[in-house]
Amino acid sequence: MPTLSRWCVRAALVYLVGGMAMGSWMLVHDAVRGFTPGPPWPSLHAHVLLMGFLLMLVIGVAYWMFPRVQGRRPGREGGWIAFGLINAGLLLRLLAEPQTTGADPATAWRVLLGVAAVLPALGALAFAVTIIPRVRAALSPEEARRLRAAHAARQAGEES
Ligand code: HEM
Repeated sequence: MPTLSRWCVRAALVYLVGGMAMGSWMLVHDAVRGFTPGPPWPSLHAHVLLMGFLLMLVIGVAYWMFPRVQGRRPGREGGWIAFGLINAGLLLRLLAEPQTTGADPATAWRVLLGVAAVLPALGALAFAVTIIPRVRAALSPEEARRLRAAHAARQAGEES
């Protein structure tokens, strides 16, 4: 497994445990006090699990398993940029959103929340640019069938 994928999976597992713990805390809060915590916790819980766990896992596995281009995995730098931007955006959001939920939040926190909103989108762009050549390298079912048939014919020729 490439190092980038290993780090994506590690991060995904941290977000999985953290996001589930946040969900458990909200449900326990409901059981004990009769209501779930309000904003920003449900939305943070959802983003930690969907963007942190699911997206990190998908990116890590895609970079690892998608078809190679001439035997190599191009776009390692773009993958690391995507990893950095998505994680920075999510962690910054985890810090800034609780500070901006109350009345009259400090301008600095609002600016940071705005930055946190943009970073993951740039990360998504970096990932898309990184992975497109690997998608293009994938054979269509028809191409794969033709290649297998040619390979089988070559082998039959060598054996006769
Ligand atoms: C230990 C497991 C989990 C627990 C205890 C849990 C608990 C909760 C609770 C208490 C809420 C808030 C409901 C409300 O607003 O009244 C919630 C919302 C939500 N959860 Fe979970 N959850 C868990 C796992 C997950 C997973 C695995 C996902 C997705 C991968 C997920 C996605 C969401 C989403 C999308 C919301 C709605 C957020 C919103 O209203 O903004 N949860 N969860």
